[in-house]
Amino acid sequence: GRKLVSKRFFSGLKDSDRIFQNVYSKYGEDLKSSQQRGDWYKTKEIILKGHDWLINELKASGLRGRGGAGFPSGLKYSFMPPNPNREPQYLVVNADEGEPGTCKDREIIRKEPHKLVEGCLLAGRAMNATAAYIYIRGEFYNEAVALQTAINEAYKAGLLGKNACGSGYDFDVYIHRGMGAYICGEETALIESIEGKAGKPRLKPPFPAGVGLFGRPTTVTNVETVAVTPTIFRRSGAWFASFGRDRNQGTKLFCISGHVNEPCTVEESMSIPLKELLEKHCGGIKGGWDNLLGVVPGGSSVPIMPKHVCEDVLMDFDALKDVGSGLGTAAVIVLNKQTDIIRAIQRFSAFYKHESCGQCTPCREGTTYLQRMMDRFVTGQAKEKEIDLIYELSKEIEGHTICALGDAAAWPVQGLIKSFRPEMVERIKQYEAKLGESVSYGGWT
Ligand code: NAI
Ligand code: SF4
Repeated sequence: GRKLVSKRFFSGLKDSDRIFQNVYSKYGEDLKSSQQRGDWYKTKEIILKGHDWLINELKASGLRGRGGAGFPSGLKYSFMPPNPNREPQYLVVNADEGEPGTCKDREIIRKEPHKLVEGCLLAGRAMNATAAYIYIRGEFYNEAVALQTAINEAYKAGLLGKNACGSGYDFDVYIHRGMGAYICGEETALIESIEGKAGKPRLKPPFPAGVGLFGRPTTVTNVETVAVTPTIFRRSGAWFASFGRDRNQGTKLFCISGHVNEPCTVEESMSIPLKELLEKHCGGIKGGWDNLLGVVPGGSSVPIMPKHVCEDVLMDFDALKDVGSGLGTAAVIVLNKQTDIIRAIQRFSAFYKHESCGQCTPCREGTTYLQRMMDRFVTGQAKEKEIDLIYELSKEIEGHTICALGDAAAWPVQGLIKSFRPEMVERIKQYEAKLGESVSYGGWT
């Protein structure tokens, strides 16, 4: 297998290599300020380079989807049919950001909306789409307003709509606001939701490129993935691919929360060592590295531990897969030794039970049982043999459902058992001891 490349040290990104220059609100978000940062520069010329050039440049960049799954973007966009007669086919931007710990797309929409709007036009051209729908989560009210303002500015300046940027290419961008259901971030549930139906995932295949929005060829892709495309086309695929390492290229937004001194969202090189990321941008761990319990590296992903793994691991798709977890949305949740890890995992279980759409039995029933059992593991009221039982239950859910929500519910519980079985046993023993005391002293409240 691949080895962790722990000794390769990154000096980190230079400021001039950052695509999202305005993440810390140093500049304005309006069209004029965005143009001063390079947005909308010679967009017409890029459009006129045509489908093949755009797809090849994306493939050369090594860009992999930033929504969590990491599917190669150039390949995914190339699945869309050629569209010589300009029949309706769609780019759908997934701005239903809801993964635990994840707040990167929110920052793009707030601070760099024009990168996303221009990205819609250019990614749309690359995949032969005629229009883009941006599906934004309902809770992002202010962000939806900011985005609509940017879209309006672009229309007014002739950058969108008929003959967008004077390129002869017509392209419209619409916003669709969600209603607060996490499952609508799953691409086929999202399509159902735009169509006015309940957000329930469809079976795949067919993939959206075959049958998507309103039955037309569609590509659903994440905000960050779309927002980096204009810079890739301007600075070249080779430039983007020069960051990170093979199969894990480019720059990436990381959102870091939990027990660090300064939680933040920051753009760094893919494959930056986790330790460097936390030290350089977050002021290290609360209580120091000796106080580290573990790290959830990618939103709802399996926690990684012990400390030496966290110290060595690189933040990319392959390195995190090799340690049994995943990069996911690159939302790093740091847990120090003051964490009640059983309770932290129970929170994941409660979340997934609440968000299950209920259409497959293993997920609907399984997440309910997971939560009920995890509630009892938190207090210690479970039986020791139930540790194996809940593990088996999680295995019955994993891989047996229509969408990835079932897997996502199963993995944190499996990670807990793998790394913290002794703590679970100890909690049960403590409860039993208390119960014993209460019996012998005649009553326990
Ligand atoms: P997936 O692996 O099924 O698909 C990823 C993308 O590649 C999809 O757009 C899919 O259509 C495309 N694809 C995959 N195989 C294909 C094929 N053979 N032909 C054509 N297209 C193909 O993963 P999924 O279910 O879309 O996403 C799961 C990820 O979503 C998880 O890793 C999780 O981290 C992330 N996630 C992110 C959230 C957020 O707020 N950003 C929320 C929830 C989950
Ligand atoms: Fe719905 Fe869960 Fe099935 Fe996904 S896995 S389709 S959320 S019931």
